[in-house]
Amino acid sequence: MPFFSKNIGIDLGTTNTRIYLKGHGILLNEASAVAYDTRQKKVIRVGNEAREMLGRTPSYIEVIHPLRDGVIADYHMAEFMLKSFLEKTVKHHGFFGTKIAIGVPYEATEVEKRAVEDVALGCGARQVTVVDEPIATAKGMGLTVEGREANIIVDIGGGTCEVSVISLMGVSASGSIRIAGDAMDNAIINYIRKNYSLLIGLPTASEIKNTIGSAAAYEGESAMSFKGRDLVTGLPKTMSITPDQIREALSDQVSAILECIRKVLEKTPPELTGDITSSGIYLTGGVSMLKGLDEFLAAETGLKVTVAENPVICAVEGMGALMKDSGEIKGFKNVVKKNK
Ligand SMILES: Nc1ncnc2c1ncn2[C@@H]1O[C@H](COP(=O)(O)OP(=O)(O)OP(=O)(O)O)[C@@H](O)[C@H]1O
Ligand SMILES: [Mg+2]
Repeated sequence: MPFFSKNIGIDLGTTNTRIYLKGHGILLNEASAVAYDTRQKKVIRVGNEAREMLGRTPSYIEVIHPLRDGVIADYHMAEFMLKSFLEKTVKHHGFFGTKIAIGVPYEATEVEKRAVEDVALGCGARQVTVVDEPIATAKGMGLTVEGREANIIVDIGGGTCEVSVISLMGVSASGSIRIAGDAMDNAIINYIRKNYSLLIGLPTASEIKNTIGSAAAYEGESAMSFKGRDLVTGLPKTMSITPDQIREALSDQVSAILECIRKVLEKTPPELTGDITSSGIYLTGGVSMLKGLDEFLAAETGLKVTVAENPVICAVEGMGALMKDSGEIKGFKNVVKKNK
């Protein structure tokens, strides 16, 4: 690799950020979070260490997620976070002349795309290419994105569910909803509050979803115990909940995802529908690991559903695969900017 070119792919996700260095592979996969001390007015933790503080900090420490619903919500914190991730990982490979390719949701607005580009430039990159994430993700799943054959990708992350029909390096039909993993966690909190008068934190809700959550009945189901605060007595209490109950708690979110897929299928050009009928649906993003989701979607749509092998790293892997030695992304018309 020439000394001057450090080609980096970044997936700045609502829940997790991943950094890929061409020639090396994935250097980082950490929580998109910063812990901010409002008394000292400074960031005290970044990434996984910040996420671990969620719900456990004194009131003057805030755990901030700089991205919401797939796009930047807090510009300064996003830049601070990305800078520290890059310093931690890429810097000792030499940061000089770095070229960054960074993914954005296909349906992000121009302003939202611009914010991502600016954050990357603010981190000192010499060149930034903004990449439509679904194309990178499809490539990372091992699909041919350059050909005429169409594929439908459903990426369910923390903040968004993005459905995209891809062919000829472009998106032919798409749809997205801001309902994904975070909304599911909140639905579990609400369900437990309503049915048990118990308050639980986000990390507990997330753990329940990831451990026993599902979209269809599965083998070996068993109840899970968890701790919360009784809203009547104000005291800590341990309770247990069954997979069946969590299915009920998540049913609105799962239905919304199905509806989003249906709508995209309805507006897919007929020439491409045939391809999709034979290839089926490709499921990726963290929530693709929700038990029985593939089975549920297959039953409801009548299509075959394939879950990505490494659902949370497909996007950066795809960026790496599409990246040329010049740091540009093959077939991408996106504007490339340069720091002076
Ligand atoms: N086994 C699992 N079952 C269900 N959900 C899971 C599982 N493991 C992780 N998740 C959820 O996946 C989500 C994170 O997925 P991912 O890393 O793809 O999101 P992201 O790329 O950061 O977000 P986005 O693409 O929306 O910006 C979280 O809500 C997390 O709780
Ligand atoms: Mg994502």
